[in-house]
Amino acid sequence: MSARTTVPSVQGRKVRRGDVPLVMVTAYDAPGARMADAAGIDMILVGDSLAMVVLGYDDTLQVTVDDMAHHTAAVARAKPSALVVADLPWLSYHVSVEDTVRNAAALVRAGAQAVKLEGGRKRLPMVEALLDAEIPVMGHIGLTPQSVNAMGGFKVQGRKHDAALALVEDAKALEHAGCFAIVVEGVPDEVGRLVTDAIDVPTIGIGAGPGTDGQVLVFHDVLGIEDRVLPKFVRRYAELGVDGTRALGAYADDVRTGAFPSPAESYHLKADEAEALGLYGSPAPLA
Ligand code: KIV
Repeated sequence: MSARTTVPSVQGRKVRRGDVPLVMVTAYDAPGARMADAAGIDMILVGDSLAMVVLGYDDTLQVTVDDMAHHTAAVARAKPSALVVADLPWLSYHVSVEDTVRNAAALVRAGAQAVKLEGGRKRLPMVEALLDAEIPVMGHIGLTPQSVNAMGGFKVQGRKHDAALALVEDAKALEHAGCFAIVVEGVPDEVGRLVTDAIDVPTIGIGAGPGTDGQVLVFHDVLGIEDRVLPKFVRRYAELGVDGTRALGAYADDVRTGAFPSPAESYHLKADEAEALGLYGSPAPLA
């Protein structure tokens, strides 16, 4: 078992200082967390993408703190060496700092070692309150999916000079407030680099080019399970959706033709018990 990844061990990682890029992937249950951990992934994000890739919604706005805690607990039960970060869902950190801390505490009690929230400078009071309660915070700027309605869709951010500089200012403010890492999503490569160069905590990119201090992808995208949307930035490393459908089809065929289960896949009585029931030799066909 590899050493546990901790918040301080992540906080100091910068590629420009010679560190290897950080690897983060989402997971939402114990088998997913075990796979990620066995693969040597540094951080597991229990993302609110849960809403879309597991629960079948069209955006992330539908999941609640209870949903996130339920899935965070499942991930934590796998006892991964990877750092477990849980997303604060929409509206769990928008109303008051008290609500924010209480909601984050529910995720920590479920097994998260840190929480992630979306937004830049306007989230500073929430970030400060969380840190005050000893809850490590990962920031998330750029394309923030919880703002889908405000942004008018899932759109690349920071394309204009002013917007790019605003992202740099957001990143600096989040770092200054104490975020240990910042996800930078859906921005041009150049903006990913600009933000990364501007701060001393690691940036974790998704659709932000290769210049960040790490990368994060959604589990179902990497493994080819989610087939409704395939963003440009996703690289698929398996086709589990296709393979799984093929496997389930083969199972259905075997059941329908009587090829499954075989004698080796069945329990059998000892000969004397079978005889006492008047059964001799191999079992009679069911029909
Ligand atoms: O919920 C999620 O999966 C995320 C990643 C896309 C960063 O926030």
